[in-house]
Amino acid sequence: MRILAIETSADETGVALIEASGSDEKDFQYKILGQALLSQAELHTRYGGIFPNLAKREHGRNLVPVLMEALRLADDLNEGVHDVTEETISSLEPLLTREHEMYTYLSGYFRAYGMPHIDAIAVTVGPGLEPALWVGINFVRALQHAWAPKREIPIVGVNHLEGHILVAQVDSKIQNAASAPPVDCKLRTVNYPAMALLVSGGHTELVLQEDWMKYKTIGATRDDAAGEAFDKTARLMNLPYPGGPQISALAKTARIKRLPRTYELPRPMLKDESYDFSFSGLKTAVKKIVDEHKHPTDDERESLARETEDAIVEVLVAKTMRAVEEHGAKTLVVGGGVSANSHLREQFAVACGDSVEVLFPPTEYATDNAVMIALAGYFKAAKKEFTAPSDLHANGNLRLV
Ligand code: KG4
Ligand code: ZN
Repeated sequence: MRILAIETSADETGVALIEASGSDEKDFQYKILGQALLSQAELHTRYGGIFPNLAKREHGRNLVPVLMEALRLADDLNEGVHDVTEETISSLEPLLTREHEMYTYLSGYFRAYGMPHIDAIAVTVGPGLEPALWVGINFVRALQHAWAPKREIPIVGVNHLEGHILVAQVDSKIQNAASAPPVDCKLRTVNYPAMALLVSGGHTELVLQEDWMKYKTIGATRDDAAGEAFDKTARLMNLPYPGGPQISALAKTARIKRLPRTYELPRPMLKDESYDFSFSGLKTAVKKIVDEHKHPTDDERESLARETEDAIVEVLVAKTMRAVEEHGAKTLVVGGGVSANSHLREQFAVACGDSVEVLFPPTEYATDNAVMIALAGYFKAAKKEFTAPSDLHANGNLRLV
């Protein structure tokens, strides 16, 4: 089955085309035929975080070029084939009244290229920024509508968090078709019950997996997400958005230099009985330090970055390991943008030792991408869990139940 996937929940516009077969660890196989990703991070830098209306506008502009790039890499752009009539193109206009720029791009695309060889379209419906999610949904509705006279393509709505979990559960040798021919990948063995920690710019959640694709959220952040804590402290330290990789790089230097511990930040909710997190106190503590030290030396900045990373990672590792023990989890899955953090990976590897297997996504698939949406979309499509285009709705607070 060939799945075309669209991701627009935050500030990355992603499109991927994968081919997959089978349904579980024994027989599931897939390959990435083509994928493209366009980050808006630079545009959002001056806001220190994602500015929703800007994200919406950019997705509207970028989706068609990103789709074309993914299809070109998959050798499925089909130039000169006329599958969509002028009448159908005109009938798309009312569907895209709020995305006029996208309508213009799409009209050009339909006039120049035929329909790709796909069996289903997957789209992120939440959680995320609703204005941004709606652009992806309207885009998918338009594609479905335009191609329908030739062939009805079913649509699957995907939970972004499930994508982050599943991409950590597939073979780590995923390659990008942009630089290498597609390789067949499989699922890695997950022993249940499993625990998943999702750490991204918008989420910090502990999810119990009693079985394959069965989820129960047992803990979440009460305020800022782990990635947000990185982003906000980075901003206080005048580092560009997204802050996670920036803080991480300075922290690494501090460790190499073996700098002394100059600052002490709190470890919020470390001893709390629940599986919830709270990271907003960290930025307040960092702000106080930054305000008191107007002209920090490089060593002081690096030391503060290391203390920030240590504080976040220590809390994440300690609470997750307690959840792993108390639920008898045999596999730990860590996903979401913050799972790209090398210190976090090292600390989890140490904490899990030989007793619990820990899975991370390939680093380049830790942050948002459309391959993870294609994977989650495939498993839903295989179960025929389709949604009619008119029933697709963006849900900014969608949960994994
Ligand atoms: O999953 P993601 O790409 O987007 C959301 O779904 O939110 O996560 C983005 C977040 C940002 O907050 C970014 O600062 C953080 O992931 N991040 C990192 C690293 N790479 C990305 N945080 C810490 N260390 C990293 N290496
Ligand atoms: Zn994400």
